[in-house]
Amino acid sequence: MSTFELHPLGAALGAEITGLDLRSIDEKSAKSLRKALGDYGLLVFRDQDLTPEQHIALAERIGTINVNRFFTPVPDYPRIAEVRKEPHESRNIGAEWHTDHSYDQVPAMGSLLYAREVPAIGGDTLFASMYRAYDALSAGLKQTLAGLRALHSSRHVFGSEAISENPEDVKKFHNPEQATQDALHPVVITHPISGRKALYVNPDFTVRFEGWSNEESASLLGFLYQHAVQPELTYRLVWRKNTLAFWDNRATWHCALNDYHGQRRVMHRVTLEGCELH
Ligand code: SIN
Repeated sequence: MSTFELHPLGAALGAEITGLDLRSIDEKSAKSLRKALGDYGLLVFRDQDLTPEQHIALAERIGTINVNRFFTPVPDYPRIAEVRKEPHESRNIGAEWHTDHSYDQVPAMGSLLYAREVPAIGGDTLFASMYRAYDALSAGLKQTLAGLRALHSSRHVFGSEAISENPEDVKKFHNPEQATQDALHPVVITHPISGRKALYVNPDFTVRFEGWSNEESASLLGFLYQHAVQPELTYRLVWRKNTLAFWDNRATWHCALNDYHGQRRVMHRVTLEGCELH
């Protein structure tokens, strides 16, 4: 048995892990963390002092790194995506509810986001449980969603048109010509680790249901989006410098609050490979 302790953070999702130094976890702990991630959707580690190399080594201990094609990397660390907002900037990254990489055929398993510099106040991240969102649907709607697949795309978020509309985004993102990914995924997935059912559409990247028009899809997607972020299905993470959050993209959504204008926030994100979703 690994030695860390797990403290649930809320009724909906999330657990804080104590008793682990992320600079030196063994295979047994890595295995237990993968299992805990599947169960809780979000793991939070406080007071972890990590260099970029140690952040990468941690990610490699837990899985295989998947480099995000669109985020500008941290200088000298092409495998770490930089999530930065400067005091003079107005836009942040990840301000809309989403799950990372759902536009990929094989969406990322999870992300390890590490707080290097946080505002004195503000800059929290909201998380929502897609297990709880699914469980809270009526039997009738569950039956309707069971056979559906949805189209997810990167084009409208990371493509040239979207990026050039917002001059600040030109620094934050690159490779807009690579924003050609569209992927079909089941609307309800069986989580590959926990075996639980989870809702798998999200406001940022999902475009429509397969075989439906965008307009026909909009009202049902709109209902699901409102339903999934009811306060009792969410958790709010208040960051401190040297906090690391590890979330599961198949079991959760997240949304970075943009309420700290005039202050700097710098986070480093490493993303891990996932598997095809069923
Ligand atoms: C992201 O969407 O990956 C960024 C989340 C955050 O900055 O809190």
